[in-house]
Amino acid sequence: MKGLFARKPLRLIMAEPEGEQHQLKRVLGPGGLISLGIGVMIGAGIFVLSGQAAATYAGPAIILSFVISAFGCALAGLCYAEFASMIPISGSAYTYAYATLGEFMAWIIGWDLVLEYLFGASTVAVGWSGYVVSFLKDFNINIPAIFCQSPFSYSVTDGWSTTGAILNCPAIFIVGIMTTLLVIGIRESTRVNNFIVLVKLTVIVLFIVVGIFFIRFANWTPFLPENTGQFGSFGWTGVIRGAGVIFFAYIGFDVVSTAAQEARNPQRDMPIGILGSLVVCTIIFILMTAVLTGIMKYTELAVPDPIAVAVNAAGPGIAWLRPFIKIGAIAGLSSVVLVLLMAQPRVIFAMARDGLLPKAFARVHPRFKTPYVPTILTGCVAAIISGLFPINILGELVSIGTLLAFTIVCIGVLVLHYRHPEYPRVFRTPWVPFVPVAGAIVTLLQMIFLPFDTWLRLIVWMAIGFCIYFFYSRKHSRLRILSPEE
Ligand code: ALA
Repeated sequence: MKGLFARKPLRLIMAEPEGEQHQLKRVLGPGGLISLGIGVMIGAGIFVLSGQAAATYAGPAIILSFVISAFGCALAGLCYAEFASMIPISGSAYTYAYATLGEFMAWIIGWDLVLEYLFGASTVAVGWSGYVVSFLKDFNINIPAIFCQSPFSYSVTDGWSTTGAILNCPAIFIVGIMTTLLVIGIRESTRVNNFIVLVKLTVIVLFIVVGIFFIRFANWTPFLPENTGQFGSFGWTGVIRGAGVIFFAYIGFDVVSTAAQEARNPQRDMPIGILGSLVVCTIIFILMTAVLTGIMKYTELAVPDPIAVAVNAAGPGIAWLRPFIKIGAIAGLSSVVLVLLMAQPRVIFAMARDGLLPKAFARVHPRFKTPYVPTILTGCVAAIISGLFPINILGELVSIGTLLAFTIVCIGVLVLHYRHPEYPRVFRTPWVPFVPVAGAIVTLLQMIFLPFDTWLRLIVWMAIGFCIYFFYSRKHSRLRILSPEE
């Protein structure tokens, strides 16, 4: 057990990355970082899940679900901002845990982040496939179902079954394109991301500004539909369950912190990037759901493309927006895939640099200056997963993985405040211990509300991670090699 809780000293973390081989390019300013956050947050959560959550759980009060979920994320976001300003090294929560909670916890969180980033990218790639297929259909281009659906499906009642499809080819396609872009360069990738963000923000602003004129107040009544007698089916419990479902929309603000080594002034800009994107997206989500539930009765919103359907149904005066909404959604989902596929290799990169994963993963491409080995590996695995598995299974795994990371980061900030109050921090989490404790409790509660099956999958995933840690990582840990007595 010796060394399991060895912490990596901050001076060692900050002394990295030394040497040409590990140097990433510092090109991101505060605007680029906020854009990264917006790029990764506005996606399937708002374009797909918002309608279903309103129709099934909360009605127009889904707006409150977004506010509640934002509150939990803000607590975790403040903790992330403190860490990111103090330890502006790629690797995000993994690196923070290594400095505060020890190597084993760091491994757990690094392994867990795969669920958020790699599985997250795969989930959204499946959503992207759905939107693209429907968009092409509008132009009479039909992709045969066997080539654009998952060969497996899963439901709680029937378990696993086959669908007759072969592969989800569009999902594999988008993962392939984004992986190639990421290998070529961070500057190129952020440029594409900035462009996509501009497209999706334009479409969203159009939807909000035009949509306001088509709101019918009758659609907002009742604002909080009465509970049906079942837990989570409307009423306040429905609002809470809705908050759990649309939590997916907020996933990703922490991704900003994985790009710390590519930020020009990370100490100052990391908190701006994390908290700025969280604030912008919260405002957008609230306005969008207010317009969405205002232009169409919530009972009609249980469709895969609620925003497009609502625009269509609101009347001929606004129907012209429909193709733009689809383009906005496709753009939105593309940048989510891009940024999540960007985040994963940077965590692998940090773990490999510490010796917990093979050294080859910490190699930077001599010309492109990108961590190309883990980027290609991530792309290949994400392509396989998105080609084979259905969106519901993937989505729940992503949520539980992300919530676990948030919980550990909140606890980490608490530990650090008492153990190392002297470390210099450009940004401090306010109201300690309230904020980190409340953050940990809220995220844990959200995890408890997830289905038991999802917990089982998390446990299996973690068990695989423990095996790798004990059979490989412990023996190769650079920290142990450098200071075996720790
Ligand atoms: N927040 C991202 C989305 O909603 C993951 O697609």
